[in-house]
Amino acid sequence: MKTIKKLFRKGLIASGAPIYSANIRWPHDEGFNDARTRAKTKGVSGIPDDRCFTLYKTASAVSNLEGDLAECGCRHGKSTRFILAGAGIESDKTIHIFDSFEGLSAPTENDRLPSGYTTWKSGALASSEDALINNLQMYEHMARIYKGWIPERFGEVAPRKFSMVHIDVDLYEPTLQSLEFFYERMTPRGVMISDDYGSLGCPGAKKAFDNFFADKPEALLELPSGQVIIVKA
Ligand SMILES: C[S@@+](CC[C@H](N)C(=O)[O-])C[C@H]1O[C@@H](n2cnc3c(N)ncnc32)[C@H](O)[C@@H]1O
Repeated sequence: MKTIKKLFRKGLIASGAPIYSANIRWPHDEGFNDARTRAKTKGVSGIPDDRCFTLYKTASAVSNLEGDLAECGCRHGKSTRFILAGAGIESDKTIHIFDSFEGLSAPTENDRLPSGYTTWKSGALASSEDALINNLQMYEHMARIYKGWIPERFGEVAPRKFSMVHIDVDLYEPTLQSLEFFYERMTPRGVMISDDYGSLGCPGAKKAFDNFFADKPEALLELPSGQVIIVKA
């Protein structure tokens, strides 16, 4: 049995699947596992555990900073739940959630892979606002939803400051528009996270971050999960 397990593990490692050592703390984090269990029991599909942990810990780490939370691209709200769990149910922060609920906007030239192919199609990943609301149960008091195409409704939060912004819209245009709007509203030491930066299928998201931060002082910290983090100077 042990040999079969070892062979299986070897096979997974060889295939490039992420294998987390039993010596690593994060998969055993009690608060995170609690959030994971709740998300699972509600049948929420979405981003993998390591990315959820990044969101959970970041939301917790910024809890003492001034400023609200925001998410551009929530789909069913799996990522949103981990941000909210990390902030904590007692938090006085609000998360401002922006999504078309009609899926992706139209890809542009900047979203083409080197092969010329585009992974995404307009309308992909559409979901319903009701599914999000259902998945945010117990956090309703912390969430505001802005249905519409980015950046149409950004103006409604223009006077606010932000301590954490999660950007997960897969494409160049809405990623760049999210950066352009939120960057100057970030509290110093606030964190911006891209879900898509390291995804080979989302070249536009990486391009948007690389272009936007080319003349900024912040470093782009790329994580093995595929995310990238910047801490506002
Ligand atoms: C990959 S999904 C987000 C997944 C979610 N963050 C999670 O982890 O479960 C991308 C989302 O971005 C939204 N989206 C993409 N382009 C958009 C745009 N231009 N304006 C508004 N929403 C957009 C889609 O509707 C979709 O819900």
